[in-house]
Amino acid sequence: MKRRLFLTLIAAATATSASMIAAPVAQAADEVKIGFLVKQPEEPWFQDEWKFAEIAAKEKGFTLVKIGAPSGEKVMSAIDNLAAQKAQGFIICTPDVKLGPGIVAKAKADKLKMMTVDDRLVDGSGKPIESVPHMGISAYNIGKQVGDGIAAEIKKRGWDMKDVGAIDVTYEQLPTAHDRTTGATDALVAAGFPKANVIAAPQAKTDTENAFNAANIALTKNPQFKHWVAYALNDEGVLGAVRAAEGRGIKADNMIGIGIGGSDSALNEFKKPNPTGFFGTVIISPKRHGEETSELMYTWIKDGKAPPPLTLTTGMLATRDNVTQVREQMGLASK
Ligand code: GLA
Repeated sequence: MKRRLFLTLIAAATATSASMIAAPVAQAADEVKIGFLVKQPEEPWFQDEWKFAEIAAKEKGFTLVKIGAPSGEKVMSAIDNLAAQKAQGFIICTPDVKLGPGIVAKAKADKLKMMTVDDRLVDGSGKPIESVPHMGISAYNIGKQVGDGIAAEIKKRGWDMKDVGAIDVTYEQLPTAHDRTTGATDALVAAGFPKANVIAAPQAKTDTENAFNAANIALTKNPQFKHWVAYALNDEGVLGAVRAAEGRGIKADNMIGIGIGGSDSALNEFKKPNPTGFFGTVIISPKRHGEETSELMYTWIKDGKAPPPLTLTTGMLATRDNVTQVREQMGLASK
């Protein structure tokens, strides 16, 4: 009796360990591996995208390879590297949209599926490459939300618009940046803001330091204004303008900056005990841009179903007073 039980147990254990050994082998054969390349890995927006991509990876059971690719060279070697690791596809926010045809050719040569996020690739004549599925923000409309928000606050404060200067931190080589700041300018002008008071401040790179330098020039050249407002393609750009203004003694009561993003750059600003010139941000969704793009790529690899050619996401204006509620509404509260 005892012996029979012992043999049964042995048999069961053998079966279990056999299946345990077999399982990883079977998984390795059809393991899905997806690359996620971003142009500015130090920027909180991109870290959030990665964080949400990781959530998709855990849920679906694929391997995510996160790569910071701040130059064309890095992008090209990263794609080769992904192919060598037997990845099947990647999502990319490119450091330069004009690299489009080169990136498409490289992905094709390496037999990798590709989808873009945030910044859409363009061809030699500057037109979007429509054959590559893309998820970006509805840039012009989100820019308009920024401009409307600034105009409403100017009116609330009772400022005379002729005394207000607008720092328009621009980055014209990136279409989504052009559309965002144009939307903001258009909304301001539609609200009665004098177009001549809009000062273009071109930045060399889309970060706070470069926006700070650009805004400083705009402020130096225009000492005539009593109050200021500022906008840019993202929160980092507006923070640069706000810091430049602070350096000249222009603080929260004389500056209305509204950014785009809603990641840590903005959240940290709202956490400061006293309000700064960074008045608000249009929160966009790193969850959709990170998690949803990854899921779309996974389905493409697994089931052969390609992502929609173009997905444009929306945003919601938040200030330090309602940022928690807005984040909750956008499904970002857990962070
Ligand atoms: C661009 C900007 C980022 C972020 C994303 C959002 O890539 O450089 O800061 O705003 O768009 O799509």
